[in-house]
Amino acid sequence: MIVLGIESSCDETSVAVYSTEKGTLCSKTFSQADIHAAFGGVIPEVASRNHIQKIEPLYQACMAECSLTGKDLDLIGVTNAPGLIGALFVGVSFAKGLGYALKRPVMPVHHLAGHILAAELSYPELRPPYTALIVSGGHTHIFDVDEALNFTLIGRTIDDAAGEVFDKTAKVMGGPYPGGIFIQNLADNGNRNAIKFPKAFKGEIKFSFSGLKTAVMNTINKGEYSLEDIAASFQYTVASTLLEKTLQAASLYNRRKIVVGGGVAANKEIRRVFNEYAENSKNIEIFFPDLARCTDNGEMIAYAASRFYKFRKFLNYKGSAYDTKHSIGLL
Ligand code: KG4
Ligand code: ZN
Repeated sequence: MIVLGIESSCDETSVAVYSTEKGTLCSKTFSQADIHAAFGGVIPEVASRNHIQKIEPLYQACMAECSLTGKDLDLIGVTNAPGLIGALFVGVSFAKGLGYALKRPVMPVHHLAGHILAAELSYPELRPPYTALIVSGGHTHIFDVDEALNFTLIGRTIDDAAGEVFDKTAKVMGGPYPGGIFIQNLADNGNRNAIKFPKAFKGEIKFSFSGLKTAVMNTINKGEYSLEDIAASFQYTVASTLLEKTLQAASLYNRRKIVVGGGVAANKEIRRVFNEYAENSKNIEIFFPDLARCTDNGEMIAYAASRFYKFRKFLNYKGSAYDTKHSIGLL
């Protein structure tokens, strides 16, 4: 099967072609990060307008690079939830229009399912069952994924997402938006054990980062520690909290494999803390997608659509253009 994947849920417009026989044939992303950086966050209407301008040229560029025409496609996968409504609307409308014109099915893919399955692209032998941690700008969620590709939510944040805390901390430190890499670079020159920050819900599979955020803000304002030490200690607190709760979830479901995905999974310290644990553990294996597959991309959506094809749940071309209730995977 040759599958087109479309992602437009936030500030990345991304189109990819995945072949079940040959793997990824092409993947193109236009990141609007620089456009939104001036505002310190994503402006939904600006995101939608940029998606409208970029989606068709990206699709044409992908098809040209793969030497394919629309008729060569067997399936179109598109992120239809969750995300910014106007931004999703652009991808879903484009996918439906194309599907209708080409007479090809359009599969609605849940964005988080895409992030989780991205690890299988980097490790082609990897298959469920596994425990999945998704850490992004909007989510900090742990799922169990079983052999039949059923996703069960085990725990989530009750307030801020991990990426949000990285971004807000960076902002207070005078860094850019998004701030994950800024914090990571500062932390490279800091001592991760300099400050002991609080961890919420110890022993429970449940996250809360608002207390950590306040503690970090107060420490910055007091001015007793360098920004490098604060960044390193903050990052280590997030990484070790994520590991503790993910291990607890894996143990609850008797899983030996852990998948980590989403933009924050690109973080070096999180990778180090998880991988160090796996190296010393006899029974847990940990899988991170390649860096480029952590942030939003159409490749993971094309791949997820190919994995969900067996469910045969497609969008109705004539139904409501925007329908969040029927994505495959998690809702
Ligand atoms: O998955 P993603 O691209 O978009 C959402 O679906 O939210 O994640 C974006 C988030 C931002 O909060 C950004 O600061 C964070 O991922 N991020 C990082 C790193 N790279 C991106 N956070 C920590 N360390 C990084 N290296
Ligand atoms: Zn994402």
